[in-house]
Amino acid sequence: MDLLSSLESSQRLDLDGLVYLRGYALPNQTQLLDDLHAVISAAPLRQMMTPMGFAMSVATTSCGALGWVSDQQGYRYSPIDPIRQAPWPAMPESFFVLANTAANIAGYTDFAPDACLINQYQIGTKMGLHQDKNERDFTQPIVSVSLGIAARFQFGGKKRTDKPTQLRLEHGDVIVWGGDARLNYHGIMTMQSGCHAILGNTRVNLTFRKAG
Ligand code: SIN
Ligand code: FE2
Repeated sequence: MDLLSSLESSQRLDLDGLVYLRGYALPNQTQLLDDLHAVISAAPLRQMMTPMGFAMSVATTSCGALGWVSDQQGYRYSPIDPIRQAPWPAMPESFFVLANTAANIAGYTDFAPDACLINQYQIGTKMGLHQDKNERDFTQPIVSVSLGIAARFQFGGKKRTDKPTQLRLEHGDVIVWGGDARLNYHGIMTMQSGCHAILGNTRVNLTFRKAG
């Protein structure tokens, strides 16, 4: 099947365990971008160190009760921003409602994310195939919101070697995955040049999870 052309005619596409909601965040984009700006002003984006001691190419920050952190001790969630030595900014209501309603459409009722990881990609950066497995409860889905320039998202299987499906994610697109696919490998291919009216040559991804 030609995935991209089949999306043209529909707002929703179901892959194995992944629901793609094209443009789902667009109606609230002004509020979302204002709230994003406020979060990033309070808790700046930074390049965390991987457990192996390399700086991540993607810059990150968080909002919500728990933030995702990485350092020489490994990956984990923390209620405290290690740079500011203070709690992460609260999750804006616009973020929570977007994640909750998208999850609901995908079949996950009462999704109450306590962590929102914000990833900022510049052209030339990428995120290698990985599993999201630092959360406690794998019955809860992952909701991912794309803003800014388009990315090529890879959605694989339970093994790193399973051949991934590629999805082009554009400004306002939301994807939800969970259930049997909760631990599927996924990643972002090297970002190619582009320009977005508001976010310039960057992509910002919001990933919502119930971490604690
Ligand atoms: C992630 O898997 O943490 C981010 C995925 C994305 O940027 O779309
Ligand atoms: Fe991930």
